[in-house]
Amino acid sequence: MSEAGVPPQLFRDLLGRFATGVTVLTARAADGRPFGMTANAVASVSLDPPLVLVCVDRARDTHDVLRSALRFALSVLAADQEPVSRRFAEDSSDRFAGIAVLEGPHGLPLVAGAVAHIQCAMHDTVAAGDHTIFIGLVTGGTAFDRPPLAYFRAGYGRFAPGGGPPADG
Ligand SMILES: Cc1cc2nc3c(=O)[nH]c(=O)nc-3n(C[C@H](O)[C@H](O)[C@H](O)COP(=O)(O)O)c2cc1C
Repeated sequence: MSEAGVPPQLFRDLLGRFATGVTVLTARAADGRPFGMTANAVASVSLDPPLVLVCVDRARDTHDVLRSALRFALSVLAADQEPVSRRFAEDSSDRFAGIAVLEGPHGLPLVAGAVAHIQCAMHDTVAAGDHTIFIGLVTGGTAFDRPPLAYFRAGYGRFAPGGGPPADG
């Protein structure tokens, strides 16, 4: 008999304690329409070659776009971009409305004001449970000197470089 996994709530409680940054994952559909969704299941994979991964729920519209996409981009959000994170996670007919977007190489949409723009060529996909791991070869990008948006226990926060003791000791 195979071993049982923990229930979903415990899984969320555990993994929710892993503080992350927040990105907007963007790609273009075959007809050229831009797609974007908020994603924090993002990790650096390899330095040589330079690979990054993002895990996407198979039930999401963006998943189908990525299945046939040759490229995608990650815009790492800045501390003042919580509204952008919320927008790209909600059901909306036009998530890009009112959002400042730049056109990157190969027409990839990039969110203006981000901490980093990471451009990728699709390298591999791995099925994993109810998600697919999309692995991208990082082909280009730009880093900016801005404080990042942080995500922890389903809430947004700020990362203070250099740390220091928490306010409540
Ligand atoms: C902070 C945050 C991080 C998220 N990270 C992911 C993620 O890594 N993978 C994922 O599939 N969904 C993630 N989501 C949920 C998607 O953004 C959300 O389901 C979105 O509506 C999917 O869009 P789509 O259905 O148009 O593809 C995240 C949501 C938030 C608020």
